[in-house]
Order: sequence, then C-alpha cells, then structure tokens
Amino acid sequence: LFFLIKINLWLTIVAVIPMSLAIFAWLKVSPMMYKYYYKWRDAMAKVNNYLHSSFSGIKLIKSYTMEKKNHDQFKKILQKRIEAAVKVIKVETIIDTLFSSIQEVGIIFILLFGGIFIIKGNLTIGEFIAFNAYIILLLGPMIRIGHFFVSKKRAQVQSERLEQIKDSPADVVDTGKARDIVPEEMTLNKVSFKYSKESPLILEKINIKIPVGKRIGLAGTVGSGKTTLTKLLMRIVDPTQGRVNIDKFDIRKIPLSQLRSLLSYVPQEPSLFSDTIRNNIIFGRDCTPDRLNEAVKLAQLEDFIKNQAKGLDETIGERGLKLSGGEKQRIAIARAILDRPRILILDDATSNLDAETEKELINQLSKSLNTTIVIISHRLSVLSICDYIYVLDQGEIVEQGTHNSLLKKKELYWKLYQHQIIEEELK
Ligand SMILES: Nc1ncnc2c1ncn2[C@@H]1O[C@H](COP(=O)(O)OP(=O)(O)OP(=O)(O)O)[C@@H](O)[C@H]1O
Ligand SMILES: [Mg+2]
Repeated sequence: LFFLIKINLWLTIVAVIPMSLAIFAWLKVSPMMYKYYYKWRDAMAKVNNYLHSSFSGIKLIKSYTMEKKNHDQFKKILQKRIEAAVKVIKVETIIDTLFSSIQEVGIIFILLFGGIFIIKGNLTIGEFIAFNAYIILLLGPMIRIGHFFVSKKRAQVQSERLEQIKDSPADVVDTGKARDIVPEEMTLNKVSFKYSKESPLILEKINIKIPVGKRIGLAGTVGSGKTTLTKLLMRIVDPTQGRVNIDKFDIRKIPLSQLRSLLSYVPQEPSLFSDTIRNNIIFGRDCTPDRLNEAVKLAQLEDFIKNQAKGLDETIGERGLKLSGGEKQRIAIARAILDRPRILILDDATSNLDAETEKELINQLSKSLNTTIVIISHRLSVLSICDYIYVLDQGEIVEQGTHNSLLKKKELYWKLYQHQIIEEELK
C-alpha cells in the first residue's frame, strides 16, 4: 500500500474504494451466512437423530404399524435438510460473485483512471505498470482473507454445535465392576437431578431409604418427579448431585447388567407388541414353564388366559386380541416379575384395576416373591399396604411416614386423599 501511495495517491484511493466496499458488504452478509450455516447444521442433526431413533424404536414403530407415517415424516425432514444445503450454496455463490465483481470493477476503475492520469501527464506508463503489479500483489491476499472469513463462520457454527453436545448430559456410563451383592437396602442420598443444564431442578436433595423386603410408597402431585425418581433407581439417568446406593456401593460402580438384574420396572403405560401373550411375557428371555405359570398366576391372568381360544398363544394387537387397560397392565406385570426381581418398581402400574383387586395383587406379589416393592400410585388408599410412604411435591419430599400417620397430620397427603374420596363418590 505504501508503494501504491508513493506512485500515485489518487489512483490508490480509486483502487481502495472497491475494497472497502467489499469489506462493508462482508460485514453486512456475515450474520446472514451464520444463520444459514446454523440452519444447515441443525437440519443435518435432525436427519441423524431421526434415523437413530427410528432404528432403535423399530419394534415399537412396527408394533403400532407406523411405517408409512414414519417414512413420510423422514421424507419431510430430509427435504428440509436439502433446502438448507441449497440455501447455503446459493448464499456462498452470491458472496463469491459479489467479491469477484467488486474485484473486476476495481480493475476497470484503475485502467480508466490510470489512462486518464497518463493522458494528463500525471503518471508515466512505467509507474502505471508498477502500480498494476503491486495492486495484484495486494488483491490476491485480500481475496484469500475474504474466503478465510467465510470458512471461519462455518467453523464457528460447527464448534458451537460441538460445545452444545459436550454440555448435554452424557448417557450413563457403564464402567462398574461386578460385585457380590445381597441387597439389604437401596438409598438415595441428597440426590438432586435435572434433565439438562438449562432445565430447572426436577428433584432436590432427596433422601430415601428402601430396605429389603419392605413396601415403599411414593405419592405426590402430578409432575412432582415420581417417575424421574424411579429412573434414578434404574440408572436410566444419573443424579446431577448426590448418590444412589445399593448397600455401600454407589450404583455407578456396579455394572448396569448387574443392577438391572436386581431391579424390575413396570411403567405407567406398558408397551406390548403384536405377538402372542406368551412372547409378550417372556420377552426373549429363557424361562421354565413353572416360572411362566407363577408369573401368570401372580399377575392374576389365569382366568383371562383360560378364556382365550389359544390360551397363551393368542396373538394380541392389531389383528389379534384387543386388550383392556387392566389386561395390558397385568401382562406388563407378568413380564416384570418373570425373573423374580429383588426390587420391583410399580409406576402407577395397576391404575386400571379396581382398588380392591389392586391391593390384593400387590399384597400377593410382595408375599409370594418375597421381594421389595416400590409403589407409585395415584390411588392413595392402595398405599395403605405400604410400610412407609414418601410424599413428593415439586421435586421435594414434603412429608413421610405411614399411611395412617400421614392422614393424621392433615397436610398434603391428607388433602390429596380427601380429593380422591370425593372423586370416587362422584363416580
Ligand atoms: N425426559 C424429560 N426431559 C425433560 N423434562 C422431563 C422429562 N421427563 C419428565 N420431565 C419433567 O420432569 C418433571 C417430573 O416428571 P415426572 O414424570 O417424574 O413426574 P411424575 O411425578 O411421575 O408425574 P405423573 O404423576 O404425571 O406421572 C415434570 O415437570 C416433567 O415435565
Ligand atoms: Mg410418572
């Protein structure tokens, strides 16, 4: 630039104007660029996520015959990704054209004004040739710097995405050693939990004891964190703070396979496949006929199965038998107790049975299997069979004790109970 100014100040100004124009244009388009790169990356991530969840949930998709819908939805997501990529390419092309046309215009200006200066005698031909040589030396790197800024935006979006991934909580890691465990007690020690960095605390400083052989009840308002608490016991998620122990072991220090062989979980909404009742209960495991019979009996499915033409081999689902909510729940229970778990978690798993049957079933389960049971129930009268009850509200334990002692306190548990009595009467 120094040499250029030395040769001719005015011609330098003429040459620099288009360059400043280019820089100005860049400042204008770069946020736009960022937006398009971001959308592009986002669309790519969506395609990948969709593929991932479709493959892992393939059985469920099939069992609900959602293939067509799944296919259409994927097409839509893929279309969005292609559109985003096309936009990025369009914008990149526009920027490229813009930069090279500014460059061309600059050269035309230099030739024009250089010619005029030479004619007027302000510039010699030698000086003009030198000027041109210098300007080319200057322009090359300028263009490359421009390209560098474009790539930098691209990289910025990519690295931001990496940061986001790093910040999201990792799935539980399975690095524990197998140990001899005859579980005496499972405990939550000052456990706090949130689903992601930005989300609020779902559970706060929870202390719970689940001694072997006992029936522990979890009550609470809707969305208070009961299901989340069971996910911590099963190690579907790990605590944000605090520890979940089996005896003296942090459950992160034992293998997932060992932990999950001790526990069994019946979800709020059971998922069954269009297959026979038998296969839905056995669920791909080895089991003796005795064990299968025991599970069927304890889940109070005997009469129901007797009434089916093909018995256990009756197919359920789409083209087979339609099941009531209570029948589905009892099949899910039979599935959960087949392996005689040490700890059984019932997450509102008997809500579609009538209150008496529900109590009777849970009583039988805990007696015959000699197992520890964690019961979540919206029907508080059922929790009267528990040895101890924890009451959750907005992620905190607000009360604890036996059914009767909690009713005597006349606080949240009592209030929830009163509501239920009124509701039952209205029915
Ligand atoms: N996977 C998730 N990601 C983010 N937030 C979640 C997730 N699952 C649940 N939550 C939130 O955590 C809170 C507690 O949910 P949870 O399912 O544990 O409640 P719950 O006590 O089982 O409710 P319910 O009585 O309706 O079964 C709710 O506010 C819910 O929106
Ligand atoms: Mg729940």
